[in-house]
Amino acid sequence: MTSKSYSIPKINHNQSNPLTMEQYKELYKASIETPDEFWDAQGQRLDWMTPYTKVKQTRFNKGNVNIDWYAGGKLNVSSNCIDRHLSQHADETAIIWEADSPGHSQHISYQQLHDEVCKLANGLKSLGVNKGDRVVIYMPMVPEAAYAMLACARLGAIHSVIFAGFSPHAIADRIIDCEAKIVITSDISKRGGKSLPLKANVDEALARDDVTCVEQTIIFNHDDVEMPLLDKQIWWHKLTENCAVTCPAEPMDAEDPLFILYTSGSTGQPKGLVHTTGGYLVYASLTHQMIFDYKPGEVYWCAADVGWVTGHTYIVYGPLANRATTLMFEGVPTYPDERRIGQIIDNHKVNILYTAPTAIRALMAKGNLAAQDSHRDTLRILGSVGEPINPEAWHWYNDVVGKSKCEIIDTWWQTETGGAMITPLAGTTKLKPGSATFPFFGIQPALVDAEGNELEGENEGNLIIKDSWPGQARTIYGDHKRFEETYFSAYENVYFTGDGCKRDNDGYYWITGRVDDVLNVSGHRLGTAEIESSLVAHEKIAEAAVVGYPHDIKGQGIYVYITPISGTEVTEDLTKAIREWVRHDLSPIATPDMIQWTNGLPKTRSGKIMRRILRKIAANDYAQLGDTSTLADPSVVDTIIENRLNR
Ligand code: PRX
Repeated sequence: MTSKSYSIPKINHNQSNPLTMEQYKELYKASIETPDEFWDAQGQRLDWMTPYTKVKQTRFNKGNVNIDWYAGGKLNVSSNCIDRHLSQHADETAIIWEADSPGHSQHISYQQLHDEVCKLANGLKSLGVNKGDRVVIYMPMVPEAAYAMLACARLGAIHSVIFAGFSPHAIADRIIDCEAKIVITSDISKRGGKSLPLKANVDEALARDDVTCVEQTIIFNHDDVEMPLLDKQIWWHKLTENCAVTCPAEPMDAEDPLFILYTSGSTGQPKGLVHTTGGYLVYASLTHQMIFDYKPGEVYWCAADVGWVTGHTYIVYGPLANRATTLMFEGVPTYPDERRIGQIIDNHKVNILYTAPTAIRALMAKGNLAAQDSHRDTLRILGSVGEPINPEAWHWYNDVVGKSKCEIIDTWWQTETGGAMITPLAGTTKLKPGSATFPFFGIQPALVDAEGNELEGENEGNLIIKDSWPGQARTIYGDHKRFEETYFSAYENVYFTGDGCKRDNDGYYWITGRVDDVLNVSGHRLGTAEIESSLVAHEKIAEAAVVGYPHDIKGQGIYVYITPISGTEVTEDLTKAIREWVRHDLSPIATPDMIQWTNGLPKTRSGKIMRRILRKIAANDYAQLGDTSTLADPSVVDTIIENRLNR
């Protein structure tokens, strides 16, 4: 399909001037009124092996949800992120890698990226990896993590990156769920001066009896230390040493899966959200360019981890599709101390920094140390993502890190949405601290009340999205019914985000946080159900209820109420052991902050735990506990309040 002589411009990736607010409004209107024309024009920012014949064919009605973009089109994500830049820009830097230990960094050109990706793709092929096979990637923040993702994309294998902070148990569950054939990992990872045993975690996961699908594990040698390999394991460098530096890119249908990414919901085990090829890459690359006003030659640093969706879309796929220089940082911005962030910005002349409020608050906790010994003069744009940014953090980020001369771009989105949804466009949108401002092109947000009635004007309600956009997840791997139930059943014919939101009288959106049982701890998304099921798997615990409470640095902390098995002696050591249990069973990020033992939990007569009450108690907000008369035993609440933990 070719672009019509229509007024919608193809926003190409050499555009250097941000839109005016008037242009944004006009283009936004067109994107909603004529989505086919709008997204047809934007689809042409990619190289297609076969042109698409239809742009948008989508349905949001439960029982029949179907999301199909760019039907008939064939393309390859890896060649769009690499090969098409080679003829003129092979020597430009694709990735700047900054190691955990200061003073170590590496520049990888687009040509080198191409060669490394092809070598690994050929290595994977030699292990029998084919289009559609699942490959789990459990890696540190090293360029090889990006090579692994792109090598899978080159072959049409579906990658599933697991955040390197997850435990063996969580790895095994994910491997089983997606039936991974191959695991790619590393001997260790390094973060904040500490080394984490990635291979050992994978070994433990694979040793579980129910993990039978994995045929080979590839191990990247990060530490240069000899380590014995087990059966069906191979070093990355051995696998690739004789591999060719070219590898044909598999033509993929626009709707073929690109990756599966697990995320927590309010119930059950994490869900494997499936993102596909064409629409995802159009959306990733368009949002990356427009939101950050990315200009060729600039150094762009998204300080997320590739284990999360932010890392997928805004470290790897969006920037590389736009021929950006993307900085990958292995460590944490507070190591060796808070000055590190400014040193990285100065050393690599970073123009755009994109990070999370929790990192900003952690830096802010040390006064203005983060601003010492660096100039940060190259910085132009500061992004924020993952949780609401509180005004103190916003101003500190703006005044101290950005020296009051950068724009703060607060982007609201989710693993499910693939890319940013409500966000300012740098250079275009007038900002209000704490507001994600306005919808991106093609995004139709609305606020609804509990019954699904749309709320107009200045209002507060649950945030829904009324129509499809190209970047959205298509399904939950192996469970389309759960996908429909989770996102399309709360309200009819719309996507439910799980977030609450306010709209002010200027039309700005202000995300207020989750309205379901999903926690946001240091920008990491956790389901209360997952933590509860880990807790009750402990032999001394009869019942558990988990809620979030406001936490100065983490945004939300994890407050746990547990009832012991009768006859258990509750001691400090046991409490400590339980904390360790969750840490090991799930992940250090799920470690409870507060553990309160109790002999009973507030339940309705039908046996449902009233989390609303527990949430209030954890937040030290006893004044409005609401109606407790429906509880089976209202006195439980008094006992819990009496024994509450002080914070
Ligand atoms: O509650 C919202 C919060 O993070 C949730 C999505 O988490 P996850 O899927 O892990 O993706 C995070 C990175 C895209 C949302 O439902 N959230 C994300 N960004 C913001 C936010 N809350 C407020 N403001 C934001 N900018």
